Amino acid sequence: MSSREEYKTESYYQIWIRSFKDGNGDGIGDLYGVYEKLPYVKSLGVDGIWFSPVYPSPNADFGYDISDYKNIHPDYGDLDQFKKVLEKAHELGLKVIMDLVVNHTSDEHPWFIESRKGKDNPYSDYYIWRDRPNNWDSLFEGKAWEYDNKRGQYYLHLFAKKQPDLNMDNPKVREEVKSILRFWLDMGVDGFREDVINFISKREGLPDGFPFLPAAKGMSHYKDGPHIHEYMAEFRKVCDEYGCFQIGEGPMTSVGTALKYLSGDTKSLDMMFSFDHMMADCLYTEYIHRPFDLIKLKKAFTRWQNALNGKAWNTLYLENHDHPRIISRYGDGRYFSPKRKIPKYWKESGKMLAASYIFQQGTPFIYQGQEIGMTNIRLSSIDDYVDVSSKTNYHTYHLKDTVEERLHRIHISSRDSARTPVQWDDSAHAGFSTVTPWFYVNQNYDVVNVRAEEDDPDSILNFYRKCLALRKKSRTLIYGQYREYFPRDRHIYMYSRTMGDVMYLIICSFARHRVHVKFPKDLKGMKKKLILCNYPENEPKDINGHFRPYEARVYRMKKS
Ligand code: NOJ
Repeated sequence: MSSREEYKTESYYQIWIRSFKDGNGDGIGDLYGVYEKLPYVKSLGVDGIWFSPVYPSPNADFGYDISDYKNIHPDYGDLDQFKKVLEKAHELGLKVIMDLVVNHTSDEHPWFIESRKGKDNPYSDYYIWRDRPNNWDSLFEGKAWEYDNKRGQYYLHLFAKKQPDLNMDNPKVREEVKSILRFWLDMGVDGFREDVINFISKREGLPDGFPFLPAAKGMSHYKDGPHIHEYMAEFRKVCDEYGCFQIGEGPMTSVGTALKYLSGDTKSLDMMFSFDHMMADCLYTEYIHRPFDLIKLKKAFTRWQNALNGKAWNTLYLENHDHPRIISRYGDGRYFSPKRKIPKYWKESGKMLAASYIFQQGTPFIYQGQEIGMTNIRLSSIDDYVDVSSKTNYHTYHLKDTVEERLHRIHISSRDSARTPVQWDDSAHAGFSTVTPWFYVNQNYDVVNVRAEEDDPDSILNFYRKCLALRKKSRTLIYGQYREYFPRDRHIYMYSRTMGDVMYLIICSFARHRVHVKFPKDLKGMKKKLILCNYPENEPKDINGHFRPYEARVYRMKKS
Protein backbone atom coordinates (compact mmCIF):
# COMPACT_ATOMS: atom_id res chain seq x y z
CA MET A 1 0.00 0.00 0.00
CA SER A 2 1.22 3.37 -0.93
CA SER A 3 1.86 6.09 1.58
CA ARG A 4 0.85 9.60 0.58
CA GLU A 5 3.12 11.56 -1.72
CA GLU A 6 5.53 8.70 -2.36
CA TYR A 7 4.28 8.74 -5.92
CA LYS A 8 6.16 12.00 -6.48
CA THR A 9 9.49 10.24 -6.41
CA GLU A 10 8.25 7.27 -8.45
CA SER A 11 7.84 6.31 -12.10
CA TYR A 12 5.45 3.82 -13.66
CA TYR A 13 5.26 1.35 -16.54
CA GLN A 14 1.93 0.86 -18.31
CA ILE A 15 0.90 -2.63 -19.38
CA TRP A 16 -1.78 -3.15 -22.03
CA ILE A 17 -1.92 -6.83 -21.32
CA ARG A 18 -3.25 -8.28 -24.55
CA SER A 19 -0.06 -7.33 -26.36
CA PHE A 20 2.50 -7.48 -23.55
CA LYS A 21 3.60 -11.13 -23.38
CA ASP A 22 1.83 -14.40 -24.06
CA GLY A 23 2.68 -16.88 -21.32
CA ASN A 24 0.37 -19.79 -22.17
CA GLY A 25 0.83 -20.14 -25.91
CA ASP A 26 -2.56 -18.96 -27.22
CA GLY A 27 -1.32 -15.86 -29.04
CA ILE A 28 -2.79 -13.45 -26.46
CA GLY A 29 -0.82 -11.60 -23.80
CA ASP A 30 -1.74 -12.64 -20.26
CA LEU A 31 -0.88 -12.58 -16.57
CA TYR A 32 1.49 -15.55 -16.98
CA GLY A 33 3.49 -13.44 -19.41
CA VAL A 34 3.40 -10.50 -17.02
CA TYR A 35 4.65 -12.71 -14.18
CA GLU A 36 7.56 -13.87 -16.33
CA LYS A 37 8.50 -10.32 -17.31
CA LEU A 38 8.21 -8.61 -13.92
CA PRO A 39 11.98 -8.71 -13.39
CA TYR A 40 12.40 -6.97 -16.75
CA VAL A 41 9.95 -4.26 -15.71
CA LYS A 42 11.84 -3.87 -12.45
CA SER A 43 15.13 -3.63 -14.34
CA LEU A 44 13.93 -0.45 -16.04
CA GLY A 45 14.09 1.36 -12.72
CA VAL A 46 10.36 2.03 -12.43
CA ASP A 47 8.46 1.75 -9.17
CA GLY A 48 5.19 0.29 -10.33
CA ILE A 49 2.83 -0.89 -13.01
CA TRP A 50 -0.42 0.56 -14.28
CA PHE A 51 -2.58 -2.18 -15.72
CA SER A 52 -4.98 -1.14 -18.45
CA PRO A 53 -8.18 -3.18 -17.85
CA VAL A 54 -7.63 -6.89 -17.23
CA TYR A 55 -11.29 -7.60 -16.41
CA PRO A 56 -13.82 -9.70 -18.35
CA SER A 57 -14.86 -7.75 -21.43
CA PRO A 58 -16.37 -8.50 -24.84
CA ASN A 59 -13.55 -6.28 -26.14
CA ALA A 60 -15.64 -3.89 -28.19
CA ASP A 61 -13.12 -1.36 -26.84
CA PHE A 62 -10.45 -3.82 -25.73
CA GLY A 63 -11.11 -3.94 -22.02
CA TYR A 64 -12.67 -0.50 -21.59
CA ASP A 65 -16.08 -2.18 -21.94
CA ILE A 66 -16.22 -4.18 -18.72
CA SER A 67 -18.71 -6.97 -18.06
CA ASP A 68 -17.47 -7.91 -14.57
CA TYR A 69 -15.51 -5.48 -12.41
CA LYS A 70 -14.39 -8.04 -9.86
CA ASN A 71 -12.81 -10.69 -11.99
CA ILE A 72 -10.10 -11.36 -14.58
CA HIS A 73 -10.72 -11.90 -18.30
CA PRO A 74 -10.29 -15.65 -18.95
CA ASP A 75 -7.90 -14.77 -21.82
CA TYR A 76 -5.53 -13.30 -19.23
CA GLY A 77 -5.78 -15.86 -16.40
CA ASP A 78 -7.85 -15.76 -13.22
CA LEU A 79 -7.95 -14.06 -9.84
CA ASP A 80 -5.42 -16.52 -8.40
CA GLN A 81 -2.95 -15.70 -11.12
CA PHE A 82 -3.58 -12.00 -10.58
CA LYS A 83 -2.81 -12.43 -6.87
CA LYS A 84 0.44 -14.18 -7.78
CA VAL A 85 1.42 -11.27 -10.01
CA LEU A 86 0.51 -8.79 -7.30
CA GLU A 87 2.51 -10.66 -4.69
CA LYS A 88 5.54 -11.00 -6.94
CA ALA A 89 5.35 -7.34 -7.95
CA HIS A 90 5.29 -6.30 -4.31
CA GLU A 91 8.19 -8.62 -3.53
CA LEU A 92 10.16 -6.83 -6.24
CA GLY A 93 9.16 -3.45 -4.85
CA LEU A 94 6.74 -2.67 -7.67
CA LYS A 95 3.35 -1.14 -6.93
CA VAL A 96 0.27 -2.08 -8.92
CA ILE A 97 -2.32 0.41 -10.15
CA MET A 98 -5.62 -0.74 -11.62
CA ASP A 99 -7.77 0.94 -14.25
CA LEU A 100 -11.14 2.07 -12.92
CA VAL A 101 -13.60 2.44 -15.79
CA VAL A 102 -16.91 3.65 -14.39
CA ASN A 103 -18.22 6.21 -16.83
CA HIS A 104 -19.66 3.23 -18.69
CA THR A 105 -19.85 -0.56 -18.63
CA SER A 106 -20.20 -3.10 -21.40
CA ASP A 107 -23.72 -3.67 -22.69
CA GLU A 108 -23.04 -7.28 -21.66
CA HIS A 109 -22.63 -6.34 -18.01
CA PRO A 110 -25.41 -7.97 -15.91
CA TRP A 111 -26.50 -4.49 -14.71
CA PHE A 112 -27.25 -3.44 -18.27
CA ILE A 113 -28.88 -6.74 -19.15
CA GLU A 114 -31.25 -6.16 -16.21
CA SER A 115 -31.69 -2.46 -16.88
CA ARG A 116 -32.91 -3.15 -20.41
CA LYS A 117 -35.69 -5.32 -19.08
CA GLY A 118 -37.89 -2.42 -18.07
CA LYS A 119 -38.56 0.62 -15.93
CA ASP A 120 -39.53 -1.36 -12.85
CA ASN A 121 -36.37 -3.47 -12.83
CA PRO A 122 -34.11 -2.82 -9.79
CA TYR A 123 -31.31 -1.85 -12.20
CA SER A 124 -33.57 0.37 -14.28
CA ASP A 125 -31.84 3.60 -13.20
CA TYR A 126 -28.29 2.31 -13.37
CA TYR A 127 -28.04 3.77 -16.90
CA ILE A 128 -29.27 6.89 -18.67
CA TRP A 129 -32.50 6.18 -20.56
CA ARG A 130 -34.68 8.64 -22.49
CA ASP A 131 -37.74 8.45 -24.71
CA ARG A 132 -36.19 10.97 -27.05
CA PRO A 133 -32.48 11.48 -27.68
CA ASN A 134 -30.79 14.88 -27.51
CA ASN A 135 -28.30 15.99 -30.17
CA TRP A 136 -25.10 14.73 -28.47
CA ASP A 137 -22.42 12.94 -30.44
CA SER A 138 -20.56 9.92 -29.16
CA LEU A 139 -16.78 10.00 -29.32
CA PHE A 140 -16.49 6.64 -31.03
CA GLU A 141 -19.61 5.70 -33.01
CA GLY A 142 -21.95 8.32 -34.40
CA LYS A 143 -24.73 9.73 -32.26
CA ALA A 144 -24.61 9.22 -28.50
CA TRP A 145 -27.98 7.47 -28.25
CA GLU A 146 -28.99 3.97 -29.26
CA TYR A 147 -32.55 2.67 -29.34
CA ASP A 148 -33.11 -0.48 -27.34
CA ASN A 149 -36.04 -2.55 -28.59
CA LYS A 150 -36.40 -4.46 -25.39
CA ARG A 151 -36.82 -1.43 -23.17
CA GLY A 152 -38.41 0.73 -25.85
CA GLN A 153 -36.12 3.67 -25.01
CA TYR A 154 -32.79 5.16 -25.98
CA TYR A 155 -29.67 4.77 -23.82
CA LEU A 156 -26.73 7.16 -23.70
CA HIS A 157 -23.27 6.01 -24.81
CA LEU A 158 -20.55 8.65 -24.95
CA PHE A 159 -18.19 6.08 -26.45
CA ALA A 160 -19.09 2.96 -28.51
CA LYS A 161 -22.61 1.59 -28.74
CA LYS A 162 -21.53 -1.33 -26.62
CA GLN A 163 -20.45 1.06 -23.83
CA PRO A 164 -23.63 2.39 -22.16
CA ASP A 165 -23.02 5.26 -19.73
CA LEU A 166 -23.71 4.62 -16.07
CA ASN A 167 -26.04 6.96 -14.24
CA MET A 168 -23.73 8.31 -11.54
CA ASP A 169 -26.55 10.42 -10.10
CA ASN A 170 -28.00 7.18 -8.79
CA PRO A 171 -26.52 6.66 -5.28
CA LYS A 172 -26.66 2.89 -5.80
CA VAL A 173 -24.27 3.21 -8.73
CA ARG A 174 -21.85 5.18 -6.61
CA GLU A 175 -22.05 2.49 -3.94
CA GLU A 176 -21.14 -0.04 -6.63
CA VAL A 177 -18.09 2.04 -7.55
CA LYS A 178 -16.98 2.12 -3.92
CA SER A 179 -17.45 -1.59 -3.65
CA ILE A 180 -15.21 -2.08 -6.74
CA LEU A 181 -12.56 0.14 -5.16
CA ARG A 182 -12.69 -1.83 -1.92
CA PHE A 183 -12.57 -5.17 -3.71
CA TRP A 184 -9.21 -4.40 -5.33
CA LEU A 185 -7.83 -2.42 -2.39
CA ASP A 186 -8.62 -5.29 -0.02
CA MET A 187 -6.62 -7.51 -2.35
CA GLY A 188 -3.68 -5.15 -1.94
CA VAL A 189 -3.49 -2.97 -5.06
CA ASP A 190 -1.87 0.42 -4.59
CA GLY A 191 -3.92 2.88 -6.59
CA PHE A 192 -6.20 3.60 -9.53
CA ARG A 193 -6.05 5.29 -12.90
CA GLU A 194 -9.58 6.53 -13.46
CA ASP A 195 -10.87 6.45 -17.01
CA VAL A 196 -12.52 9.62 -18.42
CA ILE A 197 -13.39 10.45 -14.85
CA ASN A 198 -14.27 14.06 -15.68
CA PHE A 199 -17.24 12.78 -17.76
CA ILE A 200 -19.18 10.97 -15.04
CA SER A 201 -21.57 13.78 -14.02
CA LYS A 202 -23.97 14.90 -16.74
CA ARG A 203 -25.90 18.16 -16.67
CA GLU A 204 -29.50 17.86 -15.41
CA GLY A 205 -32.03 17.57 -18.18
CA LEU A 206 -29.32 16.60 -20.69
CA PRO A 207 -29.80 19.74 -22.83
CA ASP A 208 -28.81 19.84 -26.48
CA GLY A 209 -25.18 20.82 -26.98
CA PHE A 210 -23.20 23.07 -29.29
CA PRO A 211 -20.44 21.74 -31.47
CA PHE A 212 -17.35 21.61 -29.23
CA LEU A 213 -15.28 19.78 -31.71
CA PRO A 214 -17.02 18.58 -34.87
CA ALA A 215 -17.52 15.16 -33.33
CA ALA A 216 -18.22 16.04 -29.72
CA LYS A 217 -21.51 17.89 -29.65
CA GLY A 218 -22.72 17.98 -26.07
CA MET A 219 -19.33 17.77 -24.41
CA SER A 220 -19.77 20.96 -22.45
CA HIS A 221 -22.76 19.30 -20.76
CA TYR A 222 -20.91 16.28 -19.48
CA LYS A 223 -17.29 17.36 -19.09
CA ASP A 224 -16.55 18.43 -15.47
CA GLY A 225 -20.31 18.28 -14.84
CA PRO A 226 -22.35 19.77 -11.97
CA HIS A 227 -21.83 17.06 -9.32
CA ILE A 228 -18.39 15.88 -10.29
CA HIS A 229 -16.60 17.05 -7.16
CA GLU A 230 -19.22 15.60 -4.82
CA TYR A 231 -18.92 12.19 -6.47
CA MET A 232 -15.15 12.37 -6.56
CA ALA A 233 -15.10 13.22 -2.84
CA GLU A 234 -17.05 10.04 -2.10
CA PHE A 235 -14.52 7.93 -3.98
CA ARG A 236 -11.62 9.77 -2.43
CA LYS A 237 -12.90 8.92 1.03
CA VAL A 238 -12.63 5.22 0.29
CA CYS A 239 -9.15 5.59 -1.18
CA ASP A 240 -8.08 7.63 1.84
CA GLU A 241 -9.09 4.80 4.15
CA TYR A 242 -6.50 2.68 2.37
CA GLY A 243 -3.93 5.41 1.81
CA CYS A 244 -3.91 4.71 -1.91
CA PHE A 245 -3.48 7.27 -4.65
CA GLN A 246 -5.64 8.17 -7.64
CA ILE A 247 -4.80 9.43 -11.08
CA GLY A 248 -7.58 10.76 -13.24
CA GLU A 249 -7.71 10.74 -16.99
CA GLY A 250 -8.94 14.18 -17.96
CA PRO A 251 -9.61 14.47 -21.67
CA MET A 252 -9.92 18.07 -22.90
CA THR A 253 -9.39 19.44 -19.39
CA SER A 254 -7.77 22.84 -19.11
CA VAL A 255 -5.10 23.32 -16.52
CA GLY A 256 -7.39 25.63 -14.52
CA THR A 257 -10.08 22.97 -14.32
CA ALA A 258 -7.53 20.29 -13.53
CA LEU A 259 -6.41 22.26 -10.48
CA LYS A 260 -9.89 21.89 -9.01
CA TYR A 261 -9.40 18.12 -8.95
CA LEU A 262 -5.81 18.35 -7.78
CA SER A 263 -5.79 21.01 -5.07
CA GLY A 264 -7.78 23.01 -2.55
CA ASP A 265 -11.11 22.03 -1.00
CA THR A 266 -12.18 20.00 -4.01
CA LYS A 267 -8.97 17.97 -4.22
CA SER A 268 -9.92 14.41 -5.07
CA LEU A 269 -7.07 13.26 -7.30
CA ASP A 270 -3.32 13.11 -6.78
CA MET A 271 -2.51 13.49 -10.45
CA MET A 272 -4.24 13.89 -13.78
CA PHE A 273 -3.38 12.77 -17.31
CA SER A 274 -3.75 15.88 -19.41
CA PHE A 275 -4.02 15.86 -23.18
CA ASP A 276 -2.65 19.28 -24.14
CA HIS A 277 0.80 18.08 -25.12
CA MET A 278 -0.78 15.33 -27.23
CA MET A 279 -2.22 17.98 -29.54
CA ALA A 280 1.04 19.23 -31.02
CA ASP A 281 0.08 17.54 -34.29
CA CYS A 282 -3.70 17.78 -33.78
CA LEU A 283 -3.88 14.03 -34.03
CA TYR A 284 -6.86 13.78 -31.75
CA THR A 285 -8.89 15.59 -34.32
CA GLU A 286 -7.90 13.55 -37.35
CA TYR A 287 -9.97 15.71 -39.66
CA ILE A 288 -7.70 18.70 -39.00
CA HIS A 289 -4.37 16.90 -38.63
CA ARG A 290 -1.43 19.26 -39.03
CA PRO A 291 2.32 18.73 -39.04
CA PHE A 292 4.01 18.48 -35.66
CA ASP A 293 4.62 21.89 -34.11
CA LEU A 294 7.35 22.05 -31.44
CA ILE A 295 6.21 25.44 -30.20
CA LYS A 296 2.77 24.04 -29.49
CA LEU A 297 4.32 21.13 -27.61
CA LYS A 298 6.57 23.38 -25.54
CA LYS A 299 3.68 25.70 -24.69
CA ALA A 300 1.64 22.77 -23.42
CA PHE A 301 4.53 21.37 -21.37
CA THR A 302 5.34 24.74 -19.84
CA ARG A 303 1.72 25.68 -19.18
CA TRP A 304 1.22 22.58 -17.02
CA GLN A 305 4.62 22.81 -15.36
CA ASN A 306 4.08 26.42 -14.31
CA ALA A 307 0.43 26.17 -13.33
CA LEU A 308 0.86 23.12 -11.12
CA ASN A 309 4.11 24.22 -9.55
CA GLY A 310 3.78 24.30 -5.76
CA LYS A 311 0.05 23.52 -5.96
CA ALA A 312 -0.30 20.09 -7.50
CA TRP A 313 1.65 17.32 -9.20
CA ASN A 314 1.95 16.44 -12.89
CA THR A 315 1.89 13.13 -14.69
CA LEU A 316 4.50 12.96 -17.43
CA TYR A 317 3.86 10.78 -20.46
CA LEU A 318 4.34 10.65 -24.21
CA GLU A 319 2.67 7.36 -25.04
CA ASN A 320 -0.15 5.16 -23.90
CA HIS A 321 -2.59 2.71 -25.46
CA ASP A 322 -4.61 5.59 -26.98
CA HIS A 323 -1.88 7.29 -28.94
CA PRO A 324 0.28 6.20 -31.84
CA ARG A 325 3.98 5.70 -31.17
CA ILE A 326 5.84 8.87 -30.22
CA ILE A 327 8.87 8.39 -32.50
CA SER A 328 6.43 8.23 -35.40
CA ARG A 329 4.64 11.38 -34.22
CA TYR A 330 7.18 13.74 -32.64
CA GLY A 331 10.45 12.00 -33.58
CA ASP A 332 12.13 11.12 -36.86
CA GLY A 333 9.25 8.85 -37.90
CA ARG A 334 7.55 12.04 -39.09
CA TYR A 335 9.75 11.78 -42.16
CA PHE A 336 8.61 8.27 -42.93
CA SER A 337 9.94 6.62 -46.03
CA PRO A 338 8.56 3.23 -47.06
CA LYS A 339 12.12 2.34 -48.12
CA ARG A 340 13.25 2.28 -44.52
CA LYS A 341 12.35 -0.27 -41.91
CA ILE A 342 13.01 2.24 -39.16
CA PRO A 343 13.41 6.02 -39.34
CA LYS A 344 16.91 7.28 -40.13
CA TYR A 345 17.34 8.86 -36.70
CA TRP A 346 15.23 6.29 -34.90
CA LYS A 347 17.65 5.84 -32.04
CA GLU A 348 18.62 9.48 -31.59
CA SER A 349 15.07 10.78 -31.68
CA GLY A 350 13.81 7.97 -29.45
CA LYS A 351 16.35 8.84 -26.78
CA MET A 352 15.89 12.59 -27.14
CA LEU A 353 12.14 12.21 -26.57
CA ALA A 354 12.84 10.39 -23.31
CA ALA A 355 14.96 13.30 -22.05
CA SER A 356 12.36 15.81 -23.22
CA TYR A 357 9.80 14.69 -20.63
CA ILE A 358 11.30 12.49 -17.89
CA PHE A 359 13.18 15.39 -16.30
CA GLN A 360 10.17 17.67 -15.99
CA GLN A 361 8.43 17.97 -12.63
CA GLY A 362 5.99 15.10 -12.23
CA THR A 363 5.70 11.34 -12.16
CA PRO A 364 6.90 9.74 -15.43
CA PHE A 365 4.90 7.00 -17.12
CA ILE A 366 6.38 4.74 -19.78
CA TYR A 367 4.14 2.71 -22.03
CA GLN A 368 5.09 -0.85 -23.00
CA GLY A 369 7.39 -0.84 -26.02
CA GLN A 370 8.10 2.89 -25.75
CA GLU A 371 11.32 2.08 -23.94
CA ILE A 372 12.61 0.16 -26.96
CA GLY A 373 11.41 2.73 -29.48
CA MET A 374 8.56 0.81 -31.09
CA THR A 375 7.08 2.64 -34.07
CA ASN A 376 3.72 2.81 -35.85
CA ILE A 377 2.55 -0.11 -37.96
CA ARG A 378 1.19 0.39 -41.49
CA LEU A 379 -1.46 -2.18 -42.36
CA SER A 380 -2.65 -2.40 -45.93
CA SER A 381 -6.40 -2.25 -45.45
CA ILE A 382 -8.77 -0.68 -42.93
CA ASP A 383 -10.18 -4.18 -42.43
CA ASP A 384 -6.89 -5.19 -40.81
CA TYR A 385 -7.41 -2.60 -38.05
CA VAL A 386 -9.38 -3.59 -34.97
CA ASP A 387 -9.84 -0.37 -32.99
CA VAL A 388 -13.40 0.94 -33.06
CA SER A 389 -12.40 4.61 -33.21
CA SER A 390 -9.94 4.07 -36.09
CA LYS A 391 -12.66 2.33 -38.07
CA THR A 392 -15.21 5.06 -37.37
CA ASN A 393 -12.78 7.80 -38.32
CA TYR A 394 -11.93 6.06 -41.57
CA HIS A 395 -15.57 5.55 -42.49
CA THR A 396 -16.72 9.03 -41.39
CA TYR A 397 -14.20 11.68 -42.39
CA HIS A 398 -12.65 12.77 -45.67
CA LEU A 399 -14.83 10.42 -47.65
CA LYS A 400 -13.97 12.28 -50.84
CA ASP A 401 -10.26 11.46 -50.49
CA THR A 402 -8.72 8.40 -52.12
CA VAL A 403 -8.46 5.13 -50.20
CA GLU A 404 -4.67 5.65 -50.01
CA GLU A 405 -5.07 9.11 -48.50
CA ARG A 406 -7.59 7.88 -45.96
CA LEU A 407 -5.43 4.91 -45.07
CA HIS A 408 -2.45 7.21 -44.67
CA ARG A 409 -4.39 9.09 -41.98
CA ILE A 410 -5.00 5.81 -40.18
CA HIS A 411 -1.31 4.95 -40.42
CA ILE A 412 -0.40 8.10 -38.58
CA SER A 413 -3.28 8.25 -36.16
CA SER A 414 -4.58 4.79 -35.24
CA ARG A 415 -4.51 3.61 -31.64
CA ASP A 416 -3.73 0.17 -33.04
CA SER A 417 -0.12 1.27 -33.56
CA ALA A 418 0.28 1.27 -29.79
CA ARG A 419 -1.32 -2.14 -29.51
CA THR A 420 0.91 -4.38 -31.62
CA PRO A 421 2.69 -7.14 -29.68
CA VAL A 422 5.75 -6.09 -27.70
CA GLN A 423 8.91 -7.05 -29.55
CA TRP A 424 10.98 -9.15 -27.18
CA ASP A 425 13.53 -10.63 -29.59
CA ASP A 426 14.12 -11.43 -33.25
CA SER A 427 12.66 -14.94 -33.18
CA ALA A 428 9.31 -15.84 -34.76
CA HIS A 429 6.45 -13.54 -33.64
CA ALA A 430 9.04 -11.26 -32.03
CA GLY A 431 9.25 -13.63 -29.05
CA PHE A 432 5.81 -12.41 -27.96
CA SER A 433 4.20 -15.82 -28.42
CA THR A 434 4.98 -19.28 -29.72
CA VAL A 435 1.95 -19.14 -32.04
CA THR A 436 0.53 -16.52 -34.39
CA PRO A 437 -0.39 -13.55 -32.19
CA TRP A 438 -3.89 -12.08 -31.99
CA PHE A 439 -2.68 -8.94 -33.81
CA TYR A 440 0.00 -8.02 -36.35
CA VAL A 441 3.62 -7.80 -35.24
CA ASN A 442 5.51 -4.78 -36.57
CA GLN A 443 7.94 -6.11 -39.16
CA ASN A 444 10.84 -4.10 -37.79
CA TYR A 445 11.07 -6.51 -34.84
CA ASP A 446 14.39 -7.91 -36.05
CA VAL A 447 15.96 -4.51 -35.25
CA VAL A 448 13.62 -3.08 -32.64
CA ASN A 449 13.49 -5.61 -29.82
CA VAL A 450 14.38 -5.95 -26.16
CA ARG A 451 17.09 -8.59 -26.62
CA ALA A 452 19.04 -6.55 -29.17
CA GLU A 453 18.77 -3.43 -27.05
CA GLU A 454 19.83 -5.18 -23.85
CA ASP A 455 23.10 -5.98 -25.62
CA ASP A 456 23.69 -2.43 -26.83
CA PRO A 457 24.90 0.03 -24.17
CA ASP A 458 23.77 2.91 -26.38
CA SER A 459 20.29 1.60 -27.04
CA ILE A 460 17.05 3.47 -26.46
CA LEU A 461 16.26 0.92 -23.75
CA ASN A 462 19.44 1.62 -21.82
CA PHE A 463 18.96 5.35 -22.24
CA TYR A 464 15.53 5.11 -20.58
CA ARG A 465 17.20 3.24 -17.73
CA LYS A 466 19.81 5.98 -17.40
CA CYS A 467 17.20 8.73 -17.38
CA LEU A 468 15.09 7.02 -14.73
CA ALA A 469 18.12 6.28 -12.57
CA LEU A 470 19.34 9.87 -12.81
CA ARG A 471 15.94 11.25 -11.88
CA LYS A 472 15.59 8.82 -9.00
CA LYS A 473 18.76 9.92 -7.28
CA SER A 474 18.29 13.66 -7.67
CA ARG A 475 15.92 15.63 -5.45
CA THR A 476 16.41 18.54 -7.83
CA LEU A 477 15.15 16.54 -10.81
CA ILE A 478 12.17 15.40 -8.76
CA TYR A 479 11.15 18.53 -6.89
CA GLY A 480 13.16 21.35 -8.48
CA GLN A 481 11.68 24.48 -10.02
CA TYR A 482 11.04 24.25 -13.77
CA ARG A 483 12.03 27.00 -16.19
CA GLU A 484 11.91 27.08 -19.96
CA TYR A 485 14.36 28.98 -22.19
CA PHE A 486 13.88 30.27 -25.74
CA PRO A 487 10.19 29.30 -26.01
CA ARG A 488 10.02 30.64 -29.59
CA ASP A 489 12.87 28.46 -30.86
CA ARG A 490 11.46 26.12 -33.51
CA HIS A 491 14.03 23.35 -33.04
CA ILE A 492 15.23 23.37 -29.46
CA TYR A 493 13.39 22.61 -26.25
CA MET A 494 15.50 23.81 -23.32
CA TYR A 495 14.50 23.69 -19.68
CA SER A 496 16.13 23.72 -16.28
CA ARG A 497 15.31 22.28 -12.89
CA THR A 498 16.65 24.12 -9.87
CA MET A 499 16.73 23.53 -6.15
CA GLY A 500 19.00 25.57 -3.90
CA ASP A 501 22.44 25.63 -5.49
CA VAL A 502 21.82 22.71 -7.77
CA MET A 503 20.62 23.14 -11.32
CA TYR A 504 20.16 20.79 -14.25
CA LEU A 505 19.86 22.09 -17.78
CA ILE A 506 18.17 19.84 -20.31
CA ILE A 507 18.54 20.63 -24.00
CA CYS A 508 16.71 18.67 -26.68
CA SER A 509 16.93 19.19 -30.40
CA PHE A 510 13.84 18.20 -32.37
CA ALA A 511 15.61 18.89 -35.69
CA ARG A 512 16.86 16.22 -38.06
CA HIS A 513 19.73 18.50 -39.07
CA ARG A 514 22.47 20.23 -37.12
CA VAL A 515 21.30 23.34 -35.30
CA HIS A 516 23.06 26.13 -33.54
CA VAL A 517 22.19 26.34 -29.86
CA LYS A 518 22.35 29.57 -27.93
CA PHE A 519 23.25 29.52 -24.29
CA PRO A 520 20.97 31.44 -21.89
CA LYS A 521 22.64 34.74 -20.98
CA ASP A 522 21.91 34.53 -17.28
CA LEU A 523 23.58 31.12 -17.03
CA LYS A 524 26.82 32.33 -18.55
CA GLY A 525 29.69 32.05 -16.15
CA MET A 526 28.30 28.96 -14.47
CA LYS A 527 30.31 25.76 -14.48
CA LYS A 528 28.66 23.00 -16.42
CA LYS A 529 29.23 19.30 -16.50
CA LEU A 530 27.68 17.05 -19.13
CA ILE A 531 26.12 14.12 -17.34
CA LEU A 532 23.94 12.58 -20.02
CA CYS A 533 23.92 12.70 -23.80
CA ASN A 534 22.07 10.61 -26.36
CA TYR A 535 25.10 10.31 -28.63
CA PRO A 536 27.65 7.73 -27.54
CA GLU A 537 30.82 9.77 -27.23
CA ASN A 538 32.53 13.09 -27.95
CA GLU A 539 31.42 15.70 -25.53
CA PRO A 540 31.43 18.82 -27.66
CA LYS A 541 33.65 21.40 -26.00
CA ASP A 542 31.26 24.30 -25.95
CA ILE A 543 27.56 24.33 -25.32
CA ASN A 544 27.45 27.43 -27.50
CA GLY A 545 27.77 25.32 -30.56
CA HIS A 546 25.95 22.98 -32.84
CA PHE A 547 23.74 20.14 -31.83
CA ARG A 548 23.67 17.00 -33.93
CA PRO A 549 20.30 15.67 -35.27
CA TYR A 550 17.95 15.08 -32.33
CA GLU A 551 20.78 15.55 -29.88
CA ALA A 552 19.84 15.71 -26.20
CA ARG A 553 22.13 16.73 -23.36
CA VAL A 554 21.70 17.06 -19.64
CA TYR A 555 24.13 19.37 -17.85
CA ARG A 556 24.68 19.80 -14.15
CA MET A 557 25.30 23.49 -13.56
CA LYS A 558 27.14 25.13 -10.69
CA LYS A 559 27.86 28.71 -9.75
CA SER A 560 31.54 29.29 -10.28
C1 NOJ B 1 -10.05 6.34 -22.32
C2 NOJ B 1 -9.29 5.06 -22.51
O1 NOJ B 1 -7.93 5.30 -22.30
C3 NOJ B 1 -9.60 4.57 -23.91
O2 NOJ B 1 -8.79 3.50 -24.28
C4 NOJ B 1 -11.05 4.20 -23.96
O3 NOJ B 1 -11.38 3.83 -25.27
C5 NOJ B 1 -11.94 5.37 -23.53
N1 NOJ B 1 -11.44 6.04 -22.36
C6 NOJ B 1 -13.31 4.86 -23.20
O4 NOJ B 1 -13.25 4.04 -22.06
